[in-house]
Amino acid sequence: MLILGIETSCDETAAAVVEDGKVIRSNVIASQVLVHAEYGGVVPEVASRQHLATVVKVVRRALGEASVTAEALDGVAATCGPGLVGPLLVGLELGKAMAYALAKPVVGVNHLVGHFAAVFLEAPGNPSPPPYPHVALLVSGGHTALFRVEGRARTMLLGSTRDDAAGEAFDKVAKLLGLGYPGGVVIDQLAAAGNPTAFVFPRALPARGDLDFSFSGLKTAVATRLAGLPRGKGGAIADFCASFQAAVVDVLVRKARSALRREGLRDLVVCGGVAANRGLRQALAAAAAEDGFALYVPAPALCTDNAAMIALAGTWAILRGERAALDLSVDPGLPLA
Ligand code: KG4
Ligand code: ZN
Repeated sequence: MLILGIETSCDETAAAVVEDGKVIRSNVIASQVLVHAEYGGVVPEVASRQHLATVVKVVRRALGEASVTAEALDGVAATCGPGLVGPLLVGLELGKAMAYALAKPVVGVNHLVGHFAAVFLEAPGNPSPPPYPHVALLVSGGHTALFRVEGRARTMLLGSTRDDAAGEAFDKVAKLLGLGYPGGVVIDQLAAAGNPTAFVFPRALPARGDLDFSFSGLKTAVATRLAGLPRGKGGAIADFCASFQAAVVDVLVRKARSALRREGLRDLVVCGGVAANRGLRQALAAAAAEDGFALYVPAPALCTDNAAMIALAGTWAILRGERAALDLSVDPGLPLA
């Protein structure tokens, strides 16, 4: 079974072919980072135009690298939300047009279900598939939340951020530090050489036993502390990044541990762009060893946005018998059903 996945929810134009619900035959990503970098963040209209200019080439390359003709596909899956409306429309309309022309099934995929699916792909660096039920921590640029996952399409929200997402905090702090966009990767790199105890930043843990998150206070604390720092203290940047990252990681790990305890579960999946963070991965591995739970984190390239995860989530939907009508539209605020 060969499914083409198309992902255009934000600033990556991506297409992939996944075989039999596990094997990645191709996984192509055209990043728009350089286009948006000069604006310090994603400009939605620019992103739409960029997707429009590259998506057909990206799909062609994904088919070519998979050595698959469009006619050999068994279906098409495209992200239909959540995300930026213009960018989403480009990918979904292409997916529907291809499916119509090929007389193949098409499904709209929830981007978040895609992130949950990533760990189930058979890929170098990916763990063995996690069992159900498990706890999933989703940490991306738009979401930070804990779920109880009972099955492929059965999730229960346990707690989520009351303000910023973890990835958003990384990006905003990077901007404050003048490290450019996107900030997560740069902070990750600088933090590796810094002292995480050099600066004391707050850990927001609203109400004990509560599984919600809050990162806006941390961002403000970083801005305030930065304003009081003497100019040109270059060496302090690495310490600053390490201390900020430690504050985020600390809260994520503590809440994930609480969720496992509360749900009586022993398996934790961590997904979304921030799951690529080395500090978070190390802290989670240490917590898993200490508490005796099993940890499942996708390979870093499958944590950040990609179309292989969309192709897999689409495969699941097609196997369930789901089919999108050709009037299916995008939903920028699509919740997890
Ligand atoms: O899942 P994702 O690629 O897109 C969304 O669905 O939002 O996540 C993007 C977010 C960005 O905020 C980015 O800064 C962050 O993930 N990110 C990281 C790292 N790589 C990406 N944050 C911390 N450390 C990283 N290595
Ligand atoms: Zn994402």
